[in-house]
Amino acid sequence: MLAVVHAPRELAATTEALRAGGQRVGLVPTMGALHAGHMSLVQAVRDAGATRVVLSVFVNPLQFGPKEDFSKYPRTLPDDLELCRAHGVDVVYAPAAEQMYPPGFQTHVEVEQLTQALEGAARPTHFRGVTTVVAKLFNATGPCVAAFGRKDYQQWRTLERMAADLDMPVQVLGCPILREPDGLAMSSRNRYLQPEHRTRATAIYAGLRGASAAFAAGERRVARLEELARAGVAAAFDSIDYVTVAGAQDLAAPGEQAAEHSVMLVAARIGGTRLIDNAILGQDCLV
Ligand code: PAJ
Repeated sequence: MLAVVHAPRELAATTEALRAGGQRVGLVPTMGALHAGHMSLVQAVRDAGATRVVLSVFVNPLQFGPKEDFSKYPRTLPDDLELCRAHGVDVVYAPAAEQMYPPGFQTHVEVEQLTQALEGAARPTHFRGVTTVVAKLFNATGPCVAAFGRKDYQQWRTLERMAADLDMPVQVLGCPILREPDGLAMSSRNRYLQPEHRTRATAIYAGLRGASAAFAAGERRVARLEELARAGVAAAFDSIDYVTVAGAQDLAAPGEQAAEHSVMLVAARIGGTRLIDNAILGQDCLV
């Protein structure tokens, strides 16, 4: 039976009782508008040994910039609960903003270096909001394992770093990107796309695939790999925030040559919607 809780204390009491009964609690943090990519994370925490799964649904105001889509972000809780029931989620944690951030709230968690470039450059306060809310979710839930998608690659690496640096006793998983049949990475934001833009949006996948194929065929020049990915995206999208090769662990600029397991990351805008995607070169098999 799915339990739905709203207050942090209620969540803490629920998971405390589960742990006392010998259960291993897994956590899947989300902002809702759930899709198969989110649900793959539920399976991932189970595969990692969780016997009970908590999924949080919270559109976190702290991680949206003033000109971003916080107010129009899709909120579909009844559908989300249905999907959670169908996937055997045990607890949905859906706090209100005032429960997460009551008056007087003033404590933040910040990972300093990993958050500077890429998404951090385009969205300066974003990761501070992400790390703060996920630290709170970890504290209230007490999970032994938590799953994040590699779709938000820099977010995953940042949260992994946060858990290690702050001695949080939780295993942080980074899980494969689920895609639509035409290759577009699943995202709650895809529902913003007009049909014409939705069609053009597959250019990101095509670009990543082109760069991955060139890498597999021996191309290591970063400039060439970026050029291969960039050309199609530039033609289809209104603007590009970045098309970049970076180190898979530290996200550092690689110099002139890409190493095995460098990651190619893309962020671009189409019809007012900002999409991100990536592929680990030499590892992710894009067909
Ligand atoms: P949200 O965008 O809802 O994503 C929740 C989780 O689902 C993240 O770990 C994200 O990487 C993962 N995810 C999204 N699309 C995916 C896909 N196509 N395949 C696999 N995993 C996918 O990311 C957030 O929310 C928030 O920043 C959050 C971590 C919840 C903090 O507020």
